[in-house]
Amino acid sequence: MSAIEPRSPRESGDRRVPCLLVTIVLVEWRDDPWSEVFDDDYLYFYADRLASEHSDRETDLIVQLLDLPPGAAVLDAPCGHGRIANRLAARGLRVTGLDSNTEFLARARRDAEESGVEVEYVLGDLRELPWSGRFDAAVNWYTSFGYFNDQDNRRVLSEYHRALRAGGRLMVDKINRDALIRQMPVGGAPLVALTERGDDLMIDRVHFDLAAGRSRTERIIVRDGRVRRTRFSLSQPSFTELSAWLGEAGFEQSAAYGPGGEKLAPDSRRMLVVAAR
Ligand SMILES: C[S@@+](CC[C@H](N)C(=O)[O-])C[C@H]1O[C@@H](n2cnc3c(N)ncnc32)[C@H](O)[C@@H]1O
Repeated sequence: MSAIEPRSPRESGDRRVPCLLVTIVLVEWRDDPWSEVFDDDYLYFYADRLASEHSDRETDLIVQLLDLPPGAAVLDAPCGHGRIANRLAARGLRVTGLDSNTEFLARARRDAEESGVEVEYVLGDLRELPWSGRFDAAVNWYTSFGYFNDQDNRRVLSEYHRALRAGGRLMVDKINRDALIRQMPVGGAPLVALTERGDDLMIDRVHFDLAAGRSRTERIIVRDGRVRRTRFSLSQPSFTELSAWLGEAGFEQSAAYGPGGEKLAPDSRRMLVVAAR
């Protein structure tokens, strides 16, 4: 962990001199950094992206592309703080949400209660889904695939396959690798993304490891005068590779769309992949 602790202004004669004590500890690449990535800072810096209007539109798109009739059983995994799961339930679907973050699940349950919807929330791991043949559809939404080594990433697809009933469908929403590559600066420099909220900053330096097919992100968060650094890497299969993985996991066919449900193009920022069991 790292911290910049702002110290109270120090007396210097009759003048007050602001003094900042800086302590920075670098965080190494870790296999499973996700509990450090998905915390209150995530909710804070992504607030606009996770806001109601956005989440409403995304939920409409999921219902449309998966062609979900009222009463269909849907698994939202990972469900995070329940923004999509609760909205799917409000549209008359029978929803189960799974996530590994107990605080996000607590918030999801609270929001469900406040909006009068019923969702079954389960603490669990994507690599070991505790269901077989239960769901009409499964949703892996908002860059929630590719967190592990590729053996485990493929295992996650097999877990969805087992959790679905015959004919059920999986939807994966992730970064379109082809578009990401087009955005990378020439000469191997990292792609830098800055998110600002008032004086608070989130800076991402994204490298692309072509040999591994992974993006590697160094994230620096400056919030309330404290600095925190995390590092995480995501597998970034293209649609072609992901289709092959889905086939190996037992899915029959897959189709890909751009972020608004249009045909996927090389420059579509995101890809929505729908695979049928
Ligand atoms: C980018 S968030 C997306 C959440 C949700 N799909 C949404 O659209 O808001 C990714 C989520 O994955 C969860 N997660 C990370 N590793 C996990 C694991 N091994 N098993 C289950 N959930 C995990 C995190 O806790 C986080 O809530």
